[in-house]
Order: sequence, then structure tokens, then C-alpha cells
Amino acid sequence: MEKIGIAIIGCGGITLQNHLPGLALCPQTRVVALCDSDPATLQRASQQCGVTACYTDYNELLKRSDVTAAIIATPNVVHAPIALAVIKAGKHVLCEKPLAMNSKEALEMFRAAEAAGVRHMTAFTYRFVPAFRYLAHLVKSGAIGQPYHLRVQRFQDWGQRNLGWRQVARLAGSGELGDMLSHRLDYAHVLMGQVKSLVADLHRFHDVREGQASDLEDWVAIVSRFTNNATGVFESTKLATGRGESARSQDYCEVNGSEGTVVYFMSAKPELHLGRRGSSTLESVPVPKEFLKWPRSPRDPSQGDPLFSFRYDQNFEFVDAIVNQRPCVPSFLDGARVQELMDTAMQSAKEKRWLDVRYAEPWK
Ligand SMILES: NC(=O)c1ccc[n+]([C@@H]2O[C@H](COP(=O)([O-])OP(=O)(O)OC[C@H]3O[C@@H](n4cnc5c(N)ncnc54)[C@H](O)[C@@H]3O)[C@@H](O)[C@H]2O)c1
Repeated sequence: MEKIGIAIIGCGGITLQNHLPGLALCPQTRVVALCDSDPATLQRASQQCGVTACYTDYNELLKRSDVTAAIIATPNVVHAPIALAVIKAGKHVLCEKPLAMNSKEALEMFRAAEAAGVRHMTAFTYRFVPAFRYLAHLVKSGAIGQPYHLRVQRFQDWGQRNLGWRQVARLAGSGELGDMLSHRLDYAHVLMGQVKSLVADLHRFHDVREGQASDLEDWVAIVSRFTNNATGVFESTKLATGRGESARSQDYCEVNGSEGTVVYFMSAKPELHLGRRGSSTLESVPVPKEFLKWPRSPRDPSQGDPLFSFRYDQNFEFVDAIVNQRPCVPSFLDGARVQELMDTAMQSAKEKRWLDVRYAEPWK
């Protein structure tokens, strides 16, 4: 079978850490071209993966007939224009999160991809965490009864260091909200369904990071009510001093239901913590084998650093959906739904009040 030719647009941190090693595990694909507006970054990626077809302009790359699909891993501000160009060229698209700068752009991307009949996927990587998948299975199968509360924490210590484009509103759209909380808003939809209303606060502690102005929040909190009547409490910060960063810092999710509690926190050990009615301590439960990797993924879950290797299943899902001509999980619509929550959260913080969430009709 001819291999699916993949192009990568944006060859910085997440491409080197996640997309290139993830694609290397997919026997059905070949990375055929790379694009980055920065020549030095492009060269570094080319050396890492051995791909020599390199472009600084994605429009040139999209003219290649051997490119069947593209992965967009650029700063958020250019996700929408690049995705629309990829779709116009008739190619499948996996785009990093947050999908766009706002829900209007994100819905336009979803509608364009559907109209063109291409596969579309948002890189909500935490859907692929084995312990999260098991937690979602338990919540959705009713194992903890009626869900009452969802509690989410993402605490990192990035101190006052320069965050590059991530600290600039016109390039990122939002700060901690889109950077870290967007993943958790996506999995809140998976666990609890749609949000009825929310109140949010955003706060910036550092206006300057290593000499560069920052105009985005370092901290965000949201309190929500879901349409299933459950409550949600979310907090995410880059200023949890002493907690470290990346996958080794606090990443916590707890669901309390009428029959039990289930807790996941990111850890090298694939396990959940269960609380049963009448008990006062949580017991550790290993994640069953069938949840350790995405269905049909060629990845060996016993290999590599478990804090990172699950992320490779995201690339497999994209490729597998193309091969089997089925929708990707999570899709651009999932990305747009999160963007609607983010828009509402920003509005709520600005107006300092609760707001109802109005999800748009996806086809209008
Ligand atoms: N899914 C996840 O877990 C996860 C983790 C990290 C980052 N991300 C997302 O991935 C995206 C990239 O983040 P990153 O950390 O890799 O950033 P980065 O700054 O390391 O890399 C972005 C790259 O895009 C390039 N670029 C900018 N404009 C471009 C254009 N018009 N055409 C081609 N290349 C262009 C930059 O030169 C840079 O090399 C962001 O949307 C971010 O939110 C997702």
C-alpha cells in the first residue's frame, strides 16, 4: 500500500517532542515535507527526521501532490489561515490546540473541512492518557453513579521566564486558558457533556517576562454548571512555585458521583484512585490493559517514558482515520466547542458575572 504523505507546518517544540516520534511509529505514513517560517528551526527538524523537502512558505508546500495530510503546529494566530489553506488544497488536517483564536474562526474551520470532505482533528492530547481513558469509561458507564462534581487542576511553575508568543495576546488569543485549560475543557465535555453556564476569572501577575511585555493571564479559574446538573471547578496556573513544569507537575482530575469518586493525576504509573461509598480512603486501581493504548495503535505501552509516549497515539488516530475513512477523535467540532467555552470564560471575566454558554448550531 502506498504510504500516506504527511507535511508538518511549524517545526518547534511540540513537533520535535510529539509529532515526529508519533508519526515514526505509524507504518502507514511517511513525513514528506516540513515547513517553518524560521530557517534555523526548519533545519533542526530536518536533521532530526531526515526529511529534506523544506519550505518557509506553507503555500508552496501545499502544492506538492505527495502531501495527503498536514499537521499544523504553529502559534495559535495562524492555525485558522493555514488550516483553511490545507483544506482548500484538499488535504486532511490535524491542528494543534487551541484550535483557533475564537469560536467564529474554529467553526469556520470545521465547516470548511466538512464541506471539503477531508479528515479533521484537534490535538487534545490528554484524551489519549490511559488513566484518563479509563476514568472516562468508569464515569460514562455509570460506575460512580450520578456525577455531582468535576474538579480539575493544572499547576505548573514557569516562574517569570519568557513564554515567547504564548505571552502575546495577538499571537496566542489567550494565556493559561488556551494553553493548558483548553485540554481540560475538552475532557470536561467528554466526562460531563455540555456546560450550561459558567463564571471565570483570569489574572496576570507578570506584565514583563525577561524584559518582554506580557498581556495575557498566568492564572485562570472557572466555576461551571453542566446541563446534567453537575458542577465543575477548574484552576490552571503557571505560577505554582515549586511544583515544576511539563508532565511532571500537578495535573489532576476528580469526579465525585453518587456511588463513588474517581481520581486521576498524571503519573508514570498507569493507575486511578477510587473512593467507594462508606469508605474514607481512596484505593489505587491499575488501568486495565485495554486502556493502555489507543485501539489498534502499534505502540508498545511498556516502551518509553509513560508520561510522554501516550501522546504518540494521537498521531496514530489521525493516520488511522485517514486510512479507514472515518471521522477523527477529537474533531474540529470538539475544538470549536472548547473555543465556545473559552470565549464565554473571557467574556465572563471581563463582565465579572455568570454567563450562559450558547453553543452555535455547527452548520449555520
Ligand atoms: N497538544 C499539546 O499537548 C501541545 C503541547 C505544546 C504545544 N501545543 C500547541 O502547539 C502549537 C505550537 O506550540 P510549540 O510549543 O511547538 O511552539 P513553538 O514556538 O516551539 O513552535 C512553533 C513554530 O511555528 C513556527 N511558525 C510560526 N509561524 C509560522 C508560519 N506562518 N508558518 C510556518 N511556521 C510558523 C515558528 O517559527 C516555530 O518554530 C501551539 O498551538 C501550542 O498551543 C500543543
